[in-house]
Amino acid sequence: MTSNTTEIEAIVEGLSGPQKEISPKYFYDERGSRLFDDITELPEYYLTNTELGIMRDNIAEVVDLVGKQASLIEFGSGSSLKTRILLEHLSELAAYVPVDISEEHLHASAQKIRDRFPHVDVLPVVADFTQAFALPKPMVMPVRNVVYFPGSTIGNFEYDAAMELLRVMHHEAGDGGALLIGVDLQKDTRVIEDAYNDSAGVTAEFNLNVLQHLNRDYAADFDVDEYTHSANYDEDKGRVVITLVSQADQTFRVGNTEFSIASGETILTEYSHKYTLEGFSAMAEATGFTVEKVWTDAKQLFSVQFLSRT
Ligand code: AVJ
Repeated sequence: MTSNTTEIEAIVEGLSGPQKEISPKYFYDERGSRLFDDITELPEYYLTNTELGIMRDNIAEVVDLVGKQASLIEFGSGSSLKTRILLEHLSELAAYVPVDISEEHLHASAQKIRDRFPHVDVLPVVADFTQAFALPKPMVMPVRNVVYFPGSTIGNFEYDAAMELLRVMHHEAGDGGALLIGVDLQKDTRVIEDAYNDSAGVTAEFNLNVLQHLNRDYAADFDVDEYTHSANYDEDKGRVVITLVSQADQTFRVGNTEFSIASGETILTEYSHKYTLEGFSAMAEATGFTVEKVWTDAKQLFSVQFLSRT
């Protein structure tokens, strides 16, 4: 990836407020994407395995609700096991439309899907899915659009942004469309905090990697060794607050802007919101969806939800 002046400006702006912040989208350079894959295999990180189990246990019902000749539109491109399970069982799909902002990542994962599912019309779209985008026309006219948004990625967005994203998905689903979404649930603080403070230290590496990414691609000069990983669950707000904690009074530069950071001061890198079923259903309904079906695991750790457009 090449440096980009507008992006550097946005990063500088995020670091200029009283709470310094870096968008979680900067986690996902090549090393960060690999580290995230490693996170999904950690024993403490219950999200991925639980969601996968829910999909496996209920795949017949999911397929039934999606229906025949649907166009499956995945927000954030998928080469994941969850997407594969779905594609394996949706035998009469009109099209599979992975949407991702990273063209390179998108085309690589689209090709993997084509290799594995040669009968599926794979139509990747390079777009920022937080804003409405045009859908491609499949060879077969779809009966309906089903947006797929797994992984509880919705959790990265604060309330207003999450509502806006639900509205975009409502728009992309179109008349008669639906949304299949993975939503992580509120639970015991210990279980949540362990998931973001794994004993192998992979999440810490993943978090710190954002500084290396900015150093390499966005003209920054963070002293990576002088920061540590922190993740705490705020029970009242129902969200994990993930930060980098400065270990010294120090300075850093991004582009031409120099910043000071005090010892103990934090840079917010991510929120991971956890929902109650009632809370999420209120958000869904306020954006024009009806919660048609909620699947959970035996411990109610995670949910997969099928929302239809009303
Ligand atoms: C990809 C946003 C769902 O919030 O659990 C994992 C990212 N961050 N460990 C999450 C993440 C630290 C993940 N999401």
